Amino acid sequence: MVLARRTIWCCRLPAARLIKSLCFRLFRWKPDRLRRGELVAFPTETVYGLGALGLDARAVERIFAAKGRPHSDPVILHVGDPAWVPALVRSLPPLAERAMEAFWPGPLTLVLPKSERVPDVVTAGGDSVAVRMPAHPLALELIRQVGEPVAAPSANLFSRTSPTTAEHVLQDLSGRIEAVLDGGPTTVGVESTVLDLRGPEPVILRPGGVTQEQLARVLECPVSAPGQSVDDGEPAVSPGQLTRHYSPRAEMRLFAGPDAAVLAALRHEAERANSPQTTAVLAFSEDEVELQGLPAEVVDLGSRTRPEQAARALYAAMRDLDARGFTLILARLAPHGGLGDAVNDRLRRAASGRITHVG
Ligand code: TXA
Ligand code: MG
Repeated sequence: MVLARRTIWCCRLPAARLIKSLCFRLFRWKPDRLRRGELVAFPTETVYGLGALGLDARAVERIFAAKGRPHSDPVILHVGDPAWVPALVRSLPPLAERAMEAFWPGPLTLVLPKSERVPDVVTAGGDSVAVRMPAHPLALELIRQVGEPVAAPSANLFSRTSPTTAEHVLQDLSGRIEAVLDGGPTTVGVESTVLDLRGPEPVILRPGGVTQEQLARVLECPVSAPGQSVDDGEPAVSPGQLTRHYSPRAEMRLFAGPDAAVLAALRHEAERANSPQTTAVLAFSEDEVELQGLPAEVVDLGSRTRPEQAARALYAAMRDLDARGFTLILARLAPHGGLGDAVNDRLRRAASGRITHVG
């Protein structure tokens, strides 16, 4: 399928059992292209990444150009094995080893002091580097065949929602990148947790696929997450964590408070807009009965007790509503804790940090 100016190579892999054999055939070609400095988008278990040779400053520069991303925002180096990490960092604290052992491959990114080998463009000139080993078989196969770290931010235009399918990647980057590997929809749906391990205590810079509770349990120490409470204003977090991030084009209004008050507010706002073709409500399965008959499209993000469902559905829902011309999205927060924290972080950013507290 040719979908972009240059070779966009799109191959659907419908069944997990096909992945191995297809990988073998297809990747004999791909790593060479990456090694020549080309950009290839690929699925990870969280979101699609836009990959370039991670230790090649010129290749990484192309990521910033393709995404329209400011150079002040560092990128994550993706490794094919934990054994690749020592060459990228000045020191490896015992907590990092424990975290890698417990959560890699998986949706956890570690921020550590960088070694000389890591180009400045990767770290935005800073002295730390973010590293992660993704769990998706296509991602791992690609990185391992390249044989060195692959720099990869989410494969979207800067400040837009992250892509959870190859089609989303093409919506944003067609004509700007050489290829996208299609592994179908991603399973986690929100980005990795970014964990800073440079200080005396681990700090979550971005909540994501590994939860604060899981980290505290495995690392056996307090893990702080500044600004993650829904009542706080701005989290003081990763350089790239601008408040207006992960945004749909539609205006997003977010409500928090006791159930009955939030549902009444959603109803009130939808009725005030009274435009079912352009107003949508992001809600949970439990809200369905209460929201029946609203003059709005009600999107079910899954059960309030299963935030992993909302994590998987959220970005695709925002993109779908944008594509269908919705201009106002009303939403409520997920219950605090677990993956709900990552979902709420992305909802809050999509609403440019504004939350209306009701009740
Ligand atoms: O799940 C993910 O993490 C996806 C997939 C593709 O791996 N990647 C991703 O990359 O979300 P990106 O660039 O969209 O977000 C990386 C976040 C940004 O907020 C960035 O500021 C932060 O990680 N980051 C990267 N390097 C950092 C560093 N050295 N110190 C602090 N934060 C860093
Ligand atoms: Mg991103």
